[in-house]
Amino acid sequence: MRHPAVFAVLLLASSAVSVARAEDIAVETDNTLMLLKSVPGDTLKFVYYGPRLSDVDRRAMLDDHDPELVNYGYPVFGTTDGAPYAMQASHADGNQTLDLAVTAVRRGPDGSVDIDMHDRKYPFKVCLRYVPDRANDIIETWAEVSHSEDGPVRLHRFDSSFLPLEQGDVWVSRMHGDWASEAFLLEEPLRPGLLQIKTTDGVRNSHYARPEVMISLDGRPREDSGRVIGAALEWSGNFSLRFDTESRRVHRFFAGALAEPSHYTLAPDSVMVLPRVAYTFSSGGKGGVSRNFHRWARAGHVHGCDKPRDILLNSWEGVYLDIKEPVIEKMMADWADLGGELFVLDDGWFGVKYPRDVDNSSLGDWRTDTRKLPHGIDGLIRKARGRGLRFGLWIEPEFTNDPSELFEAHPDWVLRAAGRPLRYGRGGTQLLLDMTNPAVRSFAVNLVDSLLTAHPGIDYLKWDCNTFMLNYGSTYLADDRQTNVQFDYHRGLLDVLERVRAKYPDVVIQNCGGGGGRYNYGLMPYFDEFWVSDNTDAWQRLFIQWGASMFYPPSVMGQHVSASPSHQTGRVVPMKFRFDVAMTGRLGLEMLPSAMSGEERDFARAAIATYKELRPLMSSADLYRLHSPYGDSGVASLSYVAPGAADAVLFAYKVRHRQNMVIPRFRLAGLDRDALYSVTELNVWPGSKPRKPHGSVRSGAWLMDTGLRIDMPSEYSSAVFRISRVAGE
Ligand code: DGJ
Repeated sequence: MRHPAVFAVLLLASSAVSVARAEDIAVETDNTLMLLKSVPGDTLKFVYYGPRLSDVDRRAMLDDHDPELVNYGYPVFGTTDGAPYAMQASHADGNQTLDLAVTAVRRGPDGSVDIDMHDRKYPFKVCLRYVPDRANDIIETWAEVSHSEDGPVRLHRFDSSFLPLEQGDVWVSRMHGDWASEAFLLEEPLRPGLLQIKTTDGVRNSHYARPEVMISLDGRPREDSGRVIGAALEWSGNFSLRFDTESRRVHRFFAGALAEPSHYTLAPDSVMVLPRVAYTFSSGGKGGVSRNFHRWARAGHVHGCDKPRDILLNSWEGVYLDIKEPVIEKMMADWADLGGELFVLDDGWFGVKYPRDVDNSSLGDWRTDTRKLPHGIDGLIRKARGRGLRFGLWIEPEFTNDPSELFEAHPDWVLRAAGRPLRYGRGGTQLLLDMTNPAVRSFAVNLVDSLLTAHPGIDYLKWDCNTFMLNYGSTYLADDRQTNVQFDYHRGLLDVLERVRAKYPDVVIQNCGGGGGRYNYGLMPYFDEFWVSDNTDAWQRLFIQWGASMFYPPSVMGQHVSASPSHQTGRVVPMKFRFDVAMTGRLGLEMLPSAMSGEERDFARAAIATYKELRPLMSSADLYRLHSPYGDSGVASLSYVAPGAADAVLFAYKVRHRQNMVIPRFRLAGLDRDALYSVTELNVWPGSKPRKPHGSVRSGAWLMDTGLRIDMPSEYSSAVFRISRVAGE
């Protein structure tokens, strides 16, 4: 079990502070080192995070450290002399200060380190935990808070982690956005003052801001060089990533669940396990940080990440809520003909007393609407199987509507602030269920269980989330625990996901949050993939997917070819460009296949076959982002390089079109300089000739130093080249 129970009973051994021996605390990975120091009778000190150091340099670092930088390993309110802090608590007697000293340091055989810190006066404890993933250069860290005071303690701030950074030309790369424009990359230097990246949506914590940042220590962020720290908060709720810069030589970085307006009331003898923060460090620029995170994702932090994903057709943009059995069956037939592997029936299939004809009713009533589907879900599964397709279904388990049969039966199951009228989300009727309530959690688990039991042919679920947290209150939580609702909601959600995964480890589940609103490393250990955005305009997707790839491997990013003109933007984009963009991730279709012309169908059939050949390479490859769509070159490009550099694929796009514009060469990265590679153009439009240098052989050195010149004559030109080591080389 990945997330231990939040409220496990803890007996504090003793409230008395036994002074620890002076210790250097090293958390190490294959290429990185985090150094802390505990001094007898003193607070924990932070010393260093960066590349591994020799023993000589490590000692020097401990001796020569800047006192300003190392002052605190985990600053708390009351003892920081006015400096910003990671935690503030009011004790049972009302004292609002903390004074923590290290009492024990424990090391695990896997290199993990636990540092116990007790308050000098109160039976209040913070355990800082560090878990390294040596091979992937990731260090996860978080705090666990507990106490055995006479009454509850109130936590006013509870950051999971603190990292001090020396001032200099330090830049932050972060992702900012909105519905249909998620994960737009934003880069800025750190200045004095406060930079806080946060979300208050309540449940979809990554629409507007994302819980990940990169910190470039050597000036303007670069893809392939410079020292960069990556940090990802593993949390699905409201969060805060704060850079607090006073004129004291230090940028102070804090990461954790957002405390306002959700102060936490912690009962005696229970543990509040704060969300983890995953850090990595690379001297190889942003690209190095991304590749570390992608490998770590594949090592289990995205569920089933190592398994190839099916190519799917999702019904949403084809029919929206207007589901009709014959139309769906035709979609499946056409999809099978194109070489598709999975059909996903999106929103609109359910609701008996209140049919889901508009998006303003029926959530919670997960019974098939037989007006639309006379042969039920099983009838569709049979048809899918008959065509050699797997079958998937859309659900939104955390919500209901007023009206719905569920809400009529359990009006107390929704979040609500006592004495206030309900506030509604999507459709003017959508309400969030109260995941702090164990009965509601069981309802959500049983919903998944009963669907998968009743229809064993369901191979895939799309788990959606389309409204924010509006009613901050719970009829389940006691009056003096109401401000716990935000944090406990998300712990409740994790409990639901744990139980679903314990029984159904192999069902593929997509994380969807009204588009790309809630993929994060808190949830992805339970989800196989995520829907990147409701914006399927291929040109805009280049920007959105680029941002998402900063921390997530593209092989788990749902990327669908949709109709042209785009339903979101009205943009008209050729089918080839749409496929070339979608094929960099988990390929899918989001349109009526019957809307394609004969030529488009021929192209689509061939591109899907090509994708099947590329899929093993792309699901294990290292991503190299080459030309950024956000840059000035007018092109975007990226490549995937197989471990060992025997095989690679290059994707290139024209993102701006001017007459006679200069197209830069496409210089690859990560290849073997001494090897020879064949260059083959893929996804060639029917009847067209492959472009130069198709069919040629080039050295790795040439491909990386000189690069390919690719003809890109018109608006929305794009190209895909496979670069394969020549046998025997
Ligand atoms: C939002 C999702 O992002 C869409 O793909 C679709 O599933 C709709 N919800 C359905 O309501």
